[in-house]
Amino acid sequence: MSDHDQVKLTNMNYSKDRPKAQNPVKIMDLTLRDGHQSLFATRGRTEDMIPVAEMMDEIGFWALETWGGATFDTMHRFLNEDPWERLRTLKRYIKKTPFSMLLRAQNLVGYRNYADDVARAFVERAAANGMDVFRTFDALNDYRNFETVVPVIKSCGKHFQGCICYTMTEPRLGGEVYNLDYYVNKGKALEAMGADSICLKDMAGLIAPYDAYAIIKALKKAVKIPINLHSHFTSGMSSMSHLKAIEAGADIIDTCMSPYAYRTSHPAIEPLVMTLIGTNRDTGFDIKALAAINEILEKEICPKYRQLLDDTKLSIIDINVLLHQTPGGMLSNLVNQLREMDALDKIDQVYAELPRVRKDLGQIPLVTPTSQIVGIQTVNNVLFDDENERYKMITGQVKDLCYGLYGKTAVPINAEVQKKALKGYARGEKPITCRPAEVIEPELKKAQEEVKGLAMDLDDELIYALYPVTGKRFLQWKYGKEEVPADVKPITLEQAKARQELIQKAIAGKLVEKIEKEAPAKGDGLRKFNVFVEDTYFEVGVEEIGGAPVVSYIQPARPVAAAAPAPAPAVAPAAPAPPAKPAAAAAPAAAPVDGTPINAPMPGMIVRFDKNVGDAVSKGETVVILEAMKMENALAAPVDGTIKSINFKSSDSVPKGAVLCVIG
Ligand code: CO
Repeated sequence: MSDHDQVKLTNMNYSKDRPKAQNPVKIMDLTLRDGHQSLFATRGRTEDMIPVAEMMDEIGFWALETWGGATFDTMHRFLNEDPWERLRTLKRYIKKTPFSMLLRAQNLVGYRNYADDVARAFVERAAANGMDVFRTFDALNDYRNFETVVPVIKSCGKHFQGCICYTMTEPRLGGEVYNLDYYVNKGKALEAMGADSICLKDMAGLIAPYDAYAIIKALKKAVKIPINLHSHFTSGMSSMSHLKAIEAGADIIDTCMSPYAYRTSHPAIEPLVMTLIGTNRDTGFDIKALAAINEILEKEICPKYRQLLDDTKLSIIDINVLLHQTPGGMLSNLVNQLREMDALDKIDQVYAELPRVRKDLGQIPLVTPTSQIVGIQTVNNVLFDDENERYKMITGQVKDLCYGLYGKTAVPINAEVQKKALKGYARGEKPITCRPAEVIEPELKKAQEEVKGLAMDLDDELIYALYPVTGKRFLQWKYGKEEVPADVKPITLEQAKARQELIQKAIAGKLVEKIEKEAPAKGDGLRKFNVFVEDTYFEVGVEEIGGAPVVSYIQPARPVAAAAPAPAPAVAPAAPAPPAKPAAAAAPAAAPVDGTPINAPMPGMIVRFDKNVGDAVSKGETVVILEAMKMENALAAPVDGTIKSINFKSSDSVPKGAVLCVIG
């Protein structure tokens, strides 16, 4: 029987008792990782996975993706959850189905290459905590970055799935760099490394159905191990690509439960189950069991996350992917970044600059972290370059890339850009050609030393080693050494519903009820302002807390006749932080600036100051490292002098223009 022959469907039912297919398509479910990462900013909490965990274990998935990608980052940074604990907890409910994680090879679950000792310890601990399938990718498809983790995966007896990141430079498969030969050669290289399976990883939803067919057909001919297709729905093509991939012989397909499917996520499982019923690729899944899971997700879980869904557009697909061959998530990051910089009008310049930057940087695939590296540098070029000088503000990560610290690029990096980036680069001005981690000093011992007394075990130490700033903060929350902020705590379904109602009322212009919120005691620093909205006005009390002016109360004002004129504000109130973002700490307002300030050129988070108050600095020397959109920007002293004041500390968020320090 061929793929397309239908079995007799008389008395067919949907239950799993139907005749077994000869070669069922295996399914990896992504709901618990890529699904909420794609749609809900990775904010899914473990407690919201438990209600469906046992039911999902019954379906017969080849694997459940439960970890990796952005989960590790988001959990400890925004959810106050121990990432390791999620694995152990879910394992108690999911006993039959293997777990899969996305491992960014030597980047592990971070955004740079870590030292070999950290990489080995991380994989060992992931395996010990319950990971079974290590889907491993490198953003540059440079498999030297697999060399450290793969032997550890193998020695733990786990499944090594090697990825080929799918990317292109033309509107469709072909061209000089990323053609059919490229993908076949990568597949052979993975098999030679001992891969147990291969994943063609289309993170941007770029793969067209017939190109998926061609590549998978060629891979099936070239290698013996199973082939898995991972294709995001973003552009709208992936349901078709799935089907063509299955026709070409793909062994494993990635899908999501329907409430977590489509948009920038993945096609849903249910239509695929129905599509394949009666063919020799039938999944064998019980569609009613899937429906029961969906019911819970839809009613009890998703309302908590709904407001995170970007549903500002009616269309659920993003044709920008088809137009620009760049990941949708990357484009929306660029738009957000431009908006924060009040430069949204420059978006067309960004679209034009992006392919130039990518070419300069060696035509690299665009996937975390290279998509951010190329994206942020593009924005920097558009905002800061002028006709006399390109690449005026080069991020730390672009310097690392030019040095060879991420690996070998598909084509050589533009020599001029490389030279400029490496001028004064701490590791040296001559780029390396060896495996990147060979030049990274061991990091684990140092991290363990630094976090002594706070970290209780290796898992804690690894959280710190991977994310020194936010990891340390998390450990302080975890062990009660720092109060857990309200915005990282979970909300209940009732709270979620109440919030949704408020939003609906606000949209309808009916928000007249007072929001119940316990007001703090009014302090000495309280200042009153009158805010006029056409003919009515409100009296607003503003008080500084920890340096940031916050609105502490709003009440309708007394009748106009009785109102005193508003006092002129003695301090300039900081602009309110945009909603749903952590409030940026404002610079000490109107502090007298006696000297030359270093201002934040963009909103971001302080990584560290390389100088202390009283230190001498010379012009061009790095003073502060500011992280914006996960890229580190070294801000240099504009003049010679002495550091007179430092206004922030590590992990503070700062708005654009904040005076970070003053040189006198
Ligand atoms: Co993905």
